Amino acid sequence: NKIFSPVKNKVFYPVKNKVEQVVPLDVLVKGSHLYNKARRVVDPRERSPIFVETPIPDGATIPLADIDMSNPFLYRQGQWESHFKRLRDESPVHHQTKGPFGPFWSVTRYEDILAMDKDHHLFSAEPDIIIGKFPAGFDIKMFIAMDPPQHDIQRAAVQPVVAPQNLKELEGLIRSRVQEVLDELPVGEPFDWVDNVSIELTGRMLATLLDYPYELRRELTVISDLASGVPGATGGTSDLDEVFTKCRPILRRVLQLWEQKKARIAAGEAPGYDLISLLLADENTQDMIERRPMEFLGNCVLLVIGGNDTTRNSMSGGVYALNKFPDEFAKLKANPKLIPNMVSEIVRWQTPLAYMARRAKEDTVLGGKNIKKGDKLIMWYASANRDERHFDSPEKLIIDRKNARNHIAFGFGVHRCMGNRLAEMQLRILWEELLERFDDIKVVEEPEIVQSTFVRGYSKMMVELTKKQ
Ligand code: HEM
Repeated sequence: NKIFSPVKNKVFYPVKNKVEQVVPLDVLVKGSHLYNKARRVVDPRERSPIFVETPIPDGATIPLADIDMSNPFLYRQGQWESHFKRLRDESPVHHQTKGPFGPFWSVTRYEDILAMDKDHHLFSAEPDIIIGKFPAGFDIKMFIAMDPPQHDIQRAAVQPVVAPQNLKELEGLIRSRVQEVLDELPVGEPFDWVDNVSIELTGRMLATLLDYPYELRRELTVISDLASGVPGATGGTSDLDEVFTKCRPILRRVLQLWEQKKARIAAGEAPGYDLISLLLADENTQDMIERRPMEFLGNCVLLVIGGNDTTRNSMSGGVYALNKFPDEFAKLKANPKLIPNMVSEIVRWQTPLAYMARRAKEDTVLGGKNIKKGDKLIMWYASANRDERHFDSPEKLIIDRKNARNHIAFGFGVHRCMGNRLAEMQLRILWEELLERFDDIKVVEEPEIVQSTFVRGYSKMMVELTKKQ
């Protein structure tokens, strides 16, 4: 059911979009962009909010009613821990009525969040999992924001990309790339760890998962940063026009890959283990691009965003944490066998995604509070992983912490992170190779922290390496 256009090599997909037109997917995105621009002109609520940074007081000193957990500067100003502690102790299921993203409930204790995450019948991931809302025209559908059964079908189709066998095959490749990147780093002079190591390594990984042209891998990290930084969605700084325009050439390349792989599979070639091959090989998803293009787009975006900020900020967060707790660095050097446990502890300590949002499907009671059907609830993983009811001295990085693996930074239940094993493997290999080469990785100035309610991350971190004697 394809229509070939007079333009050479251009395939048009019959897409039933809002205006029932037949348009190719990248043109559909262009249309969404125009629609979004128009909506911004006529509806002030569609314009990106502008956040002005002002000093945030310690959470212990503010009236509970004035606490704003949706302030995108909480992490940058280091006030998030005091705010969460206040809520955990005094109002663990807390209704916030004021703020730039409208009303929502903050759920801050580990046990309450675990219970919520397990109960997808009562707490829905639809229509989205962020505190704000995506702008008009952002109609992509991701299975992270779907409930079963649709969620399960889509997840099952792409899960093999991170299946144990695939990871085993990937391990050698990941290690050689880590070695290559580390061997090129300058020794004895400051450089930006975020750009040279964390972004570089995650970009290489994402290109592999999508089988995207390797030399263009930075396009994936750039679009992922733009998408996760949409101001009205997560309190970030992205420019909406840039999100739409930078997305289109990437999309065209992904569409090309789809056609090439489809032709190869039709000619009898075994499908690979990249995302597109997997979607093409599964009967539930092989016609996705024709029938449900926005879901196809959603799967690509989910894998790219899911694997980008998260792993990247764990790579940076680990270095930062070991600088804050130098005794732990010494412990690690004395006993490299602690690396796997340390990886879990780093992910707990950093918690790169601060939360996931849910909607109550029915009236219910949580933590003694009456929740109404349709209410938005934020499960603050960043707080659960600092819950002193569950972790001793939670603010400290303790690389041999006994219950480090119980962290909830990967979520729980049906949506538990699909890429957790891959992320842990990447981090383990990075630390194994780092210890082989360097005696010290010194953070030489305070890192720059991203503006966001959602991503707990670093935009710049200057470090200096000391070679192993
Ligand atoms: C889901 C965190 C790495 C792909 C999630 C969720 C969290 C998360 C919190 C939502 C869980 C929930 O709602 O219960 C992390 C962290 C990572 C990481 C902290 C690294 C340290 C990755 C990687 C990939 C990935 C490398 C790519 C392969 C996904 C996908 C989902 C997801 C596809 C959606 C799962 C679903 O809805 O069923 N991740 N993630 N993540 N993650 Fe990750």
